[in-house]
Amino acid sequence: MTEAEHISAEQMERIADSFRAGVEVYARENSPLYSALARLGADDPEIVEMACHAMASAPPVHLFTSVHFMLLGGIDDPLARYFPTLAETPLSPEEAFSHFRRFCLTHRDELLDVMRSRPVQMTYVERCRSVIAPLCHVADLAGEPLNLIEIGCSAGVLLTFDRYAYEMREGEKFGPADAPFMLKGDLTGGPDLRIPQIGKRIGMDLNIIDPAVEEDRRWMLATCFPELLDQQRRLAEAMDIVASTDITWLEGDALARISEALALAPDPVCVYHSACLFYWPQEAKLALDELLCEASRTRTIYRFGSEPSERYDEQMSGRNDTENIRKSTGPNGEITYTCYEGGTMDRKILAESYATLGKTIWID
Ligand SMILES: C[S@@+](CC[C@H](N)C(=O)[O-])C[C@H]1O[C@@H](n2cnc3c(N)ncnc32)[C@H](O)[C@@H]1O
Repeated sequence: MTEAEHISAEQMERIADSFRAGVEVYARENSPLYSALARLGADDPEIVEMACHAMASAPPVHLFTSVHFMLLGGIDDPLARYFPTLAETPLSPEEAFSHFRRFCLTHRDELLDVMRSRPVQMTYVERCRSVIAPLCHVADLAGEPLNLIEIGCSAGVLLTFDRYAYEMREGEKFGPADAPFMLKGDLTGGPDLRIPQIGKRIGMDLNIIDPAVEEDRRWMLATCFPELLDQQRRLAEAMDIVASTDITWLEGDALARISEALALAPDPVCVYHSACLFYWPQEAKLALDELLCEASRTRTIYRFGSEPSERYDEQMSGRNDTENIRKSTGPNGEITYTCYEGGTMDRKILAESYATLGKTIWID
């Protein structure tokens, strides 16, 4: 029995729908190429069937990323001429689909192997624009050097946030003199910004990426949408920094290993996460609170999360009704702060954010 026969008509329809939703979503995320591939892919059963093997929450992206990964690996194929990461003058995205389809069918087995072995763990250095203010907030409260535990750190580029420069308010630049780049954001309100002193860095992920390993590194670069050349360049530079920074990596479910991470981190300790816990089931989120409450009987634990808000799903659904368009103009991220002390917890929302724009509006 072939793999194709395991895939139900219902699953095919669901995945075809996610291609259809992707047309608008990828265009909004500045990828005309993925938007065009999603539009034609939706009605192509062989392409939809391949995406059914994806493990990502967005199967078309997993398939596109796997193709991008193979092309970045140096496969000589005319499809590369449509990828801005591979062609100086890329050809029109509207004409890419026939090459994409041929490439997928020719390299089907290899692509399925990539999708089975590599989950999409999309990370952008630009997300540091959402973590710098809460990190300053925690450092102000907890003291320094601050010890960091990041849950769901992917390639670890948020763990080296202190090596980049920032301009979060007009004219207010800060960061190390040798920073490889400056991240420009838009923060309204919030704490005074600076680079807090960092002690230990612990990165936790289901799947640890080693930026010193060529294939891991290439996979992360492939997860960048091919039009986002600046983001891809910054990600490459940040991975160089990660590769030369002392980080303790803990692989596996963070819930199972958080006690171990806490034991490795001296005080004051800050647990944080970005674009990660939003995807956890409610029971897992509650279990993390319980574990941190319990651990706080003997020490204070500071935590913040920069996560999509409920509105994010509505905006990403691709529905094109009036209500959705109205919502799409609002903030779609949230920064929450929790202090665990003496076995109890106190949580508040610090800020709302427009994640992809680097815009943060401080509430507290
Ligand atoms: C979308 S990526 C975000 C990466 C990074 N935090 C950022 O904001 O750029 C989410 C990451 O969380 C990891 N992850 C999800 N659930 C996890 C869990 N239970 N334990 C550890 N890591 C997890 C995934 O493997 C993935 O690398």
